Amino acid sequence: MSSEIPAFLLNDERPMPKAGFGVYKITGDEGAARALETALEAGYRLIDTASVYKNEESIGKAIRSANIPREELFITSKVWNTAQRMGDIEGAFNRSLERLKLDYVDLYLIHWPVPGCYPETWRLLEKIHQSGRAKSIGVSNFGISHLEHLFEISGIIPAVNQIECHPLWNRKELVAYCQERGIVVQAYAPVARGAYADREILTCIGKKYGKTAVQVGLRWLIQQDIGIIPKSVSKDRILSNIDIFDFELTKSEMETIDTLDEHLRTASIPDDMIGQGVE
Ligand SMILES: NC(=O)c1ccc[n+]([C@@H]2O[C@H](COP(=O)([O-])OP(=O)(O)OC[C@H]3O[C@@H](n4cnc5c(N)ncnc54)[C@H](OP(=O)(O)O)[C@@H]3O)[C@@H](O)[C@H]2O)c1
Repeated sequence: MSSEIPAFLLNDERPMPKAGFGVYKITGDEGAARALETALEAGYRLIDTASVYKNEESIGKAIRSANIPREELFITSKVWNTAQRMGDIEGAFNRSLERLKLDYVDLYLIHWPVPGCYPETWRLLEKIHQSGRAKSIGVSNFGISHLEHLFEISGIIPAVNQIECHPLWNRKELVAYCQERGIVVQAYAPVARGAYADREILTCIGKKYGKTAVQVGLRWLIQQDIGIIPKSVSKDRILSNIDIFDFELTKSEMETIDTLDEHLRTASIPDDMIGQGVE
């Protein structure tokens, strides 16, 4: 099966697929090759990695063996907190490119808003962007206060804010804030790591369309113009997580799903960011 995934137009005029493949915890050459082969065959073109996932080398190999023209792929990586504290953004970026064996990434993100560091990190990302080695730049785990700070010091608005977002934590205020300013919200942990897979309301809505609860949750994100990057190593789930572009939830179904919010965080905050003003 291969499905066509629609794209956003980012605020720098570049397209980014609305659905991509998350690779956190997909490690080793064999594991990465197997997962990516299935994902690329299914139609995924956006691959979301990060230096801290320690899999850039394996992901790079898997991408190369897929023989898909580079310009058809959309590769994201992220700068980790340690590099921010050391002020070694250029070095960290170059090492990511070397491990991936790529000349450029499509999107480079500040992984976390490390207090006292992220404004300078952003200035250095702007330089990398100007050099053409990161086609777009953005942020991750940024709240409204962090974004407001960036707007004060820079004229470049992040193209993307990648945040945890799903039916059990809908982030309405932050999503609206970003979207009003032309920042695409990309949901990580969009499956909430399976936490809503058995929710009766979602299962019930899904029955009407022949879809699972997870497909309903992912579709609910897409209909709010929120990107998704679900991760899976199971062929069935890799396929079903993007088989969501052939049905449309009604306004009333969207509103029902809005009521499921319980501020459920499924991804942990890194130890060095606890108590550092992140939501
Ligand atoms: N920027 C950040 O700080 C940040 C933080 C976390 C994640 N991310 C990115 O976002 C991606 C996705 O987030 P995530 O991996 O944390 O969580 P996720 O995609 O919500 O969930 C992945 C987990 O749910 C399972 N799963 C996948 N599809 C499923 C389905 N249809 N039904 C039931 N279970 C399903 C997977 O198991 P199987 O593999 O066995 O299918 C896996 O254990 C990551 O891989 C990473 O690229 C970014």
